[in-house]
Amino acid sequence: MNAEVRGLATQCGRALQDYLAGRGEVALQQAYELGRQALAKGLGVLDMVTIQHRALLTCLLKVQTAKEGSRTLRAANRLFVESLLPFEMSHRRVQETNAALLESEQRYRNLVETARDVIYTLSTDGKIKSLNPVFETITGWSRAEWIGKEFPPLVHPDDLPRAMELYQVVLEGKVPPMFELRILSKSGAYIPGEFQATSLVQDAQIVGVLGVARDITDRKRAEEALRRLNEALEEEIKRIAHALHDEAGQLLASVHIVLAEIVLDLPPHASRRLEDVRGLLTKIEEQLRHMSHELRPTILDDLGLRPAVEFLADGVSRRTGLVISVEGSPGKRLPSPTETALYRIVQEALTNVTRHAQATRVVIRFVREGLLLRCSVRDDGAGFDGPAVQARRGSRGLGLLGIQERLNAVGGTLNIISTPSSGTELIVSVPVEAGGADADSPRR
Ligand SMILES: Nc1ncnc2c1ncn2[C@@H]1O[C@H](COP(=O)(O)OP(=O)(O)OP(=O)(O)O)[C@@H](O)[C@H]1O
Ligand SMILES: [Mg+2]
Repeated sequence: MNAEVRGLATQCGRALQDYLAGRGEVALQQAYELGRQALAKGLGVLDMVTIQHRALLTCLLKVQTAKEGSRTLRAANRLFVESLLPFEMSHRRVQETNAALLESEQRYRNLVETARDVIYTLSTDGKIKSLNPVFETITGWSRAEWIGKEFPPLVHPDDLPRAMELYQVVLEGKVPPMFELRILSKSGAYIPGEFQATSLVQDAQIVGVLGVARDITDRKRAEEALRRLNEALEEEIKRIAHALHDEAGQLLASVHIVLAEIVLDLPPHASRRLEDVRGLLTKIEEQLRHMSHELRPTILDDLGLRPAVEFLADGVSRRTGLVISVEGSPGKRLPSPTETALYRIVQEALTNVTRHAQATRVVIRFVREGLLLRCSVRDDGAGFDGPAVQARRGSRGLGLLGIQERLNAVGGTLNIISTPSSGTELIVSVPVEAGGADADSPRR
């Protein structure tokens, strides 16, 4: 018997003596307190039995009559029950907590079982530990075919290096941003998935990876359709630009020739006025040419994004009087759809500045940040309340919507910083490859 149990047994004996001496309430309180102390010290019910037994034995040894003996036994019984009350209460609490835990576990189990996203866990040696039922619906595999197996054969070979890198990152306890991987289905086709992964922790130790994967086939299809639509639109714009440049341009050139002939037949007074008309015609011709180049700048294909944006800014500047500067560099050449998207976005942003901002200055800036290219268009105009514009119904413009859609098609993001009276900054970020051709090389 250890010192703690012995100490408590002495206290218990004292309480029993008090009880027998008629100080019932005080003794019961002592017994209850004794139970609490025992519980706090981590003693169990068996220790309580030992304590009670020892106290009772000490008291019984002093008993002289049978009547006294049975009184002592009754008193000991009351005190014993009282000292066990804290244990009983704690036991009930444990039962309640267990029931709540069980219920919460059941709730989470239901969530996982009925989730529309795949929820999986991986062990630290790259094996699949669990998969929820929707894995079967999405991929056509049965879960039993993969649980316990290594995960890499499920990942598209081209995506595997990235998948392994992210797996290691998560095992180091970091949370990577969302990522996309293609997953092998039973039919042999690959399914595009969007993944979010975090480390699985048990007793402060990382024991694996917990991930959620969403089937983004529909989104990818919509993006692809949008990309094709944009390409078709670009083709149509190219056709209109050429018609404007070639056909309207040639018509105007013919008018020039006819007017030059007429001038010869007119008296000096009338011919001077016709010269004025010819001057206006030259201006129209110039504007038409500029507009057709802006519509589909061959400069974009030939020289790249920055020269094309400079050309665009120059045209807008001349037409509107805005002071526009182009800063920074987009770096290496980007895929054609990305360059076209950025060009159109800057074009719409400048149109918005001229139409809505009452600005005097605009700065267009390109910044390369790792695998992202950021392009911002900042004006010093009136600014606007973004959320209010987004919430506008019916009369909503198409410009910002179009910018967002173009960005979706090339995997980019849009951020607008604007407050009334302090100007507007439109920031778009698009993913770019690490390599690529030089910025000013023509596209083949
Ligand atoms: N640079 C800016 N300065 C001030 N307000 C702006 C600016 N850009 C956009 N806005 C506000 O945002 C609204 C939405 O712009 P958005 O380009 O989507 O449509 P829109 O220009 O009105 O019409 P659309 O582009 O279809 O011709 C504009 O009506 C305007 O109120
Ligand atoms: Mg607009």
